[in-house]
Parts: sequence; structure tokens; C-alpha cells
Amino acid sequence: MAKLLITGGRPLEGEVRVSGAKNAALPIMCAALLTARPLALSNVPQLADISTAAKLLAQMGVAVERGADGRMTLNAAEIANPVAPYDLVKTMRASVLVLGPLLARCGRASVSLPGGCAIGARPVEQHVKGLQAMGATISVEHGYMNATAKRLRGARIAMDLVTVTGTENLMMAAALAEGGTVLENAAREPEVVDLANCLRAMGARIEGAGTDVIRIDGVSSLSGTDYRVMPDRIETGTFLTAAAAAGGRIRLTEAAPESLDATLQKLRDAGAKVMTGQDSIEIEMSGRPTAVSVRTTPYPGFATDMQAQFMALDAVASGTAVITETIFENRFMHALELRRLGADISVQGTSAVVRGVERLEGAKVMATDLRASASLVIAGLVAQGETLVDRIYHLDRGYEALEKKLGALGARIERVH
Ligand code: EPU
Repeated sequence: MAKLLITGGRPLEGEVRVSGAKNAALPIMCAALLTARPLALSNVPQLADISTAAKLLAQMGVAVERGADGRMTLNAAEIANPVAPYDLVKTMRASVLVLGPLLARCGRASVSLPGGCAIGARPVEQHVKGLQAMGATISVEHGYMNATAKRLRGARIAMDLVTVTGTENLMMAAALAEGGTVLENAAREPEVVDLANCLRAMGARIEGAGTDVIRIDGVSSLSGTDYRVMPDRIETGTFLTAAAAAGGRIRLTEAAPESLDATLQKLRDAGAKVMTGQDSIEIEMSGRPTAVSVRTTPYPGFATDMQAQFMALDAVASGTAVITETIFENRFMHALELRRLGADISVQGTSAVVRGVERLEGAKVMATDLRASASLVIAGLVAQGETLVDRIYHLDRGYEALEKKLGALGARIERVH
């Protein structure tokens, strides 16, 4: 199985292009189910999760064509099999995003219930309750959510908690429902806005995406469109944090600086010089970072998907930081691996106290989930000597050509078998 071998201790220098956002591309691909016309996408990242989504849609009868340069055309002229099987859902929980669109377009769907996950329980009852409020009948049988509805009706839905894919699922379902839907306590993540923009280009009537109240006026059918997926803010944040930890000066192009306010602020607090352009971000860091405490909250707060990377930064910072995770109940598994590199981290419930050390030392470590893997790579870039990161299939789910991009920035990193 592939591993990443990193020889640390070099600053990062140079320029890389940011990929399209995984967490925007996934719901947008599922939006193809809402129309019988082709949806032509660009800036779709080359990732394992995108291939899983393509496979999921293809086995339903969607014609999927992938071209060069992140182009992808999805044509759901007919949906023969509105089913998301366990084998695919178990490898990618975001598969649940087909539930709303299938129900709205076909009047029925059978979607495997996602099981537990490395970072938390991650139930989907908000998705289910919202669809039920829109008139769907949903029962769980043999591990599958079996849903039916003649035509979904618009409803006022106040979600009990902020859920990103829950908001996306309900927004897609409401786009084809009869009448108006109001989603209260909606997620404000930029990926929700990107999906709304794509749906609007397809003819949906949606207002308020990016705020916590989204209003959708259902239409009877949607058309195809051409749509460019937004830049990946978490990939961007990961490279910036790597440069803040390892030192140097890097420039990221085709980025969306406005989607990264909380991360950029924390990087500045850590002592980095951060300069933003229209679609580029440059960071310069000399000397040791200063410890920064973070608390994860839904957007526009500090992203849970950046928490692990900041733990690696804080591990080598001067001072002590407290990292509090409020979104997922088990998202500190990287702390134990970082300790294998010499980090001083103690976890107490939902908080981790990170006492910065002067140096980390390379070791063998194991990735446990996508963002945890990214934190181990950052730590490996800073550590003295060699770090071998195992189970990098987690990284391949969400970072396009990570070692190539880091290599282009001067890092000594290679994939070994
Ligand atoms: N939750 C419930 N019930 C629900 C839905 C969510 O209790 O019905 C809870 C979750 O268990 C969690 C919290 O609400 O504690 C927030 O979860 P959310 O539903 O927002 O997460 P998600 O939609 O499953 C997306 C991203 C994640 C990211 C989270 C939080 C996609 C495909 N995934 O997941 O991305 O961490 O939002 O921002 O958009 C990643 O890319 O590495 C990743 C895990």
C-alpha cells in the first residue's frame, strides 16, 4: 500500500494552483439528477471521492463523461435505478446527497444508511425530517432508507442544528417541489452558495444562500447548464498552514480568498504575512509561528476541516494553544500521531492543549481521516529527518496531486510502495 515519505526541514517556496472544491463538486454532481438535460461542469478535482460519486451516478443510469482539465458532463436523461448501494455509501458518506434529488425527480429513492465514521457518529436525521416535512414517506429497512413521494411539497423547515449536506439535500429537493420552501438555521458554507448558484443557472428559484434562511420557490423542471466549481478553500488553507509551519513564501492561484477569512485571520495571528488578490493568496513566514487557539464552528467561523492542520502548526509554535472541536465528537485522532513526532498535546474531552515544542522528529505515522492526514504531512514537512505517513488513501480522497504540488514548492516528498 502506498505511503508518503517526507524529509522535513525545508521552507516552502513557489506557486501552485488551487483545485476545484471537493465539497462543492460532490453536491453539484448530484444536482445533475434533477434534470433530464446535460450538466457540463469544469474545475472538477481529480479525487477518489469524485470517482466514487461518478460511479454512484453511473450505476443509476446517469451518463458520465470526464474530459481533460477537470471537465465533466453528466446526463441524467433517464434514471433507471434510483438506488445508492451500501458498497458506495460506506466509502463516501456524501453519497447521501442523492436522496433529495432522486426523491424530487423520480418520486422514490433507496439510499443505504451511512454507518459510523472515524470522526463522529454523523447521523442524517435532519435530512430525513426535512424531506418528511415536504411530504416524503421514509422507512428504514435492511439498512436502507426507502423514500417515496408523489410530488414533494414546499414546507417551512427549521433545522435543529447546522448541517452542510443536510442543507444541500433539502435545497435540491425543494428546487423541484410544489410551492415554496423556507430552510431556517441553514448552513452558510460557501459550498452551499456554490450549489445554489449552479441550481439557479439550471433555472431554480433560490434566495438567501449564504445566510441562515434560504427560500426556494419550486419549479416543475430544471434545465442543464455549464458551471465552474468554486476553488477548494480547505486545500488552500492546508497549503497556507503548511507554509506557516515550515516557513518560506508561497503563492496560491485560482483561489477564493473571500471564503477563507477565519483561516487567514488565524494565520496572521500566528505571525504570517498574508496578502490577498482577486483570486490569489500569498503567504510569507519567517521564524517560528506563535501559538493560536482555535474553536471550530459552522461557517463563517473557523472550519472543523482546518482544525487538524492548525494542530500541526501549533505543535511547533512558541506558546500554548487550546484547540476546541465543537462539530465532530471524535476529531482528535491526529493528536496521538502528532505525539509520535514529539508534539506535546493533551486531549481533554472536546479540547486539546498544544504546548509548542522547538522541534519535531520524523517517525512512522498513520493517517486516520482526510484532514488528519493533512496535519501529519504538515508536521512531516517541519520535522527533522524522515516521516513516513501510512494509509494515504485518505489523502487521495480529498487532495489533488498533493505530493506533486508540495514537491513543486520545494518539499522533499515522495510516494513509496
Ligand atoms: N448532524 C446531525 N444530524 C444530521 C446531520 C448532521 O447530528 O442529520 C451533525 C453531525 O454529526 C455533525 C454536525 O451535525 O456533528 C455537522 O455535520 P454536517 O452535516 O454539517 O457535516 P456533513 O455535511 O456530513 C460536511 C463536509 C465535511 C465537513 C462538515 C462540517 C461535505 C461532503 N462534507 O459534512 O467535510 O467536515 O460538513 O463542515 O460537504 C471533509 O471534507 O474532510 C469533511 C469531513
